[in-house]
Amino acid sequence: MGLSKGAGFAGLPAAVLLLFAMLLMGSVSGIGVNWGTQLTHPLPAATVVKILKDNGFQTLKLFDADSSILSALKNSQIQVMVGIPNDMLYTLSNSVQAAEKWVAKNVSAYVSSNGVDIRYVAVGNEPFLETYNGTFEGITLPALQNVQAALVKAGLSSQIKVTVPMNGDVYESSTDVPSQGDFRANIQDRMVEIVKFLNDNGSPFTVNIYPFISLYDNPNFPVDYAFFNGYSSPIDDNGKIYQDMFTANYDTLVWTLQKYGYGNMSIIVGEIGWPTDGDQHATLQYAQRFNQGFMARYIAGQGTPMRSGPLDAYLFSLIDEDAKSIQPGNFERHWGIFYFDGTPKYQLNLTANSNGLVPASNVKYLSRQWCVMSPSASLDDPQLAPSVSYACANGDCTSLGYGTSCGNLDARGNISYAFNSYYQIQDQLPSACKFGNLSGVTNSDPSSGDCQFHIMIKTAARLTTSRGGSLRQPVGLLMFLFMLFCTIL
Ligand SMILES: *[C@@H]1O[C@H](CO)[C@@H](O)[C@H](O)[C@H]1NC(C)=O
Ligand SMILES: *[C@@H]1O[C@H](CO)[C@@H](O)[C@H](O)[C@H]1NC(C)=O
Ligand SMILES: *[C@@H]1O[C@H](CO)[C@@H](O)[C@H](O)[C@H]1NC(C)=O
Ligand SMILES: *[C@@H]1O[C@H](CO)[C@@H](O)[C@H](O)[C@H]1NC(C)=O
Ligand SMILES: *[C@@H]1O[C@H](CO)[C@@H](O)[C@H](O)[C@H]1NC(C)=O
Ligand SMILES: *[C@@H]1O[C@H](CO)[C@@H](O)[C@H](O)[C@H]1NC(C)=O
Repeated sequence: MGLSKGAGFAGLPAAVLLLFAMLLMGSVSGIGVNWGTQLTHPLPAATVVKILKDNGFQTLKLFDADSSILSALKNSQIQVMVGIPNDMLYTLSNSVQAAEKWVAKNVSAYVSSNGVDIRYVAVGNEPFLETYNGTFEGITLPALQNVQAALVKAGLSSQIKVTVPMNGDVYESSTDVPSQGDFRANIQDRMVEIVKFLNDNGSPFTVNIYPFISLYDNPNFPVDYAFFNGYSSPIDDNGKIYQDMFTANYDTLVWTLQKYGYGNMSIIVGEIGWPTDGDQHATLQYAQRFNQGFMARYIAGQGTPMRSGPLDAYLFSLIDEDAKSIQPGNFERHWGIFYFDGTPKYQLNLTANSNGLVPASNVKYLSRQWCVMSPSASLDDPQLAPSVSYACANGDCTSLGYGTSCGNLDARGNISYAFNSYYQIQDQLPSACKFGNLSGVTNSDPSSGDCQFHIMIKTAARLTTSRGGSLRQPVGLLMFLFMLFCTIL
């Protein structure tokens, strides 16, 4: 007893030093998450930052450089990847001055005096998607070069790295075997140039990998291969066995990079996740199965056959975004592990000892009232169809339709859902529930089972109460050290 106690005391200072060293090197690990902001009613930034901290997220990926979000991240100790939207690439590719302005305004201003821990700048987002018809193919590398030059000029290039989040089909394997991987033929030269540039500057390759999309696009895609529980016909790549699409896709990238001499380049999985609505395969059960399966891998630090060791990854996504384009599909508005109001959707353990997600606190809702189809209105009313079209076009009807959470509603239920969606998005304005005499407001919740008729949250602009003291100043570092101490002792 005495001996082990003595050893414990002797070990303490070393442990403290080690912890400080880890903190300084920024090697605090933990799954990251994407925070997208295309919502009609976003939660206050400070509320979202509290969700991040309460759930132990230490790394965060953004799609732009929103000043209210970056301000809310001050002193949070969260490591941030800020983003440059594709529509800015042209300007940045043409002008190093524009890149310098972007870096000064959106990076330097926050890292210097404001204590925001920016680690990466994502230049564009999936710019080589085939749906863009090549619009960004010629300008991505020049934009990357100009942003890198601006970071160098600002004296930030050793701590902040540039990268480009790529969609997982910029490379492929014609036989599905990872070792046959290569960049897509029509963009091969451009990809090799970008990879060389990233490598020259110590930057990572960032890729978004989506088994859900493979399943959505291809009716013959084997469902079990999308998940992490094993698959009856695994791929055997010279003795390396692949039982899930994520791992095979990741290693296809490793082989591809290796083919061009960049086999050691670090890889970030910029987005990984599963949506919960808007498609027959977008269910709470599948999303939990996928995300928890991925987290089990992540927590175990298991890696892939080609890259053992921990993965670097960002879940997609933190919160549902009801204003996202549904051009790719109705599921697009349902990627969150939280609903729009910060309520967890299902149990998800992000660490070995966690017991599910921690919800947002102090969320302010509008009144408990809903807009529904009036019981006296007739289904034959000629005004019904245009009214529903209008409500869905300006509201969100992505939870209606085959295989969705409200897919079992009858015709009246459908119409009520559409009316209510529009009414809530319009902040329950009385005029937003006046579809002739087809609609009326009710205090009785029309929700049933998984089909939720939401009540909208109050947005910052509509909150009458004071917004003072919005940022909780966290005693983060001390708390963190204390917790680690407790773990060690
Ligand atoms: C900073 O980022 C914001 C948000 O992405 C963008 O609107 C703005 O134009 C950027 N500022 C500069 C000077 O480029
Ligand atoms: C890409 O091309 C297709 C077919 O020519 C067209 O329908 C689509 O609008 C184009 N998309 C973009 C983003 O230019
Ligand atoms: C990659 O790293 C390993 C171990 O650090 C080393 O043995 C190998 O030579 C490196 N390969 C390349 C292509 O740099
Ligand atoms: C999460 O952890 C709790 C407590 O350890 C456990 O009861 C639960 O089954 C876990 N959930 C999942 C989805 O693994
Ligand atoms: C409800 O609406 C969805 C989507 O608009 C439609 O596919 C479905 O057929 C409707 N169901 C009924 C019973 O009207
Ligand atoms: C609804 O309004 C129309 C025109 O305003 C009227 O003709 C009709 O009688 C009303 N129906 C009911 C059930 O009140």
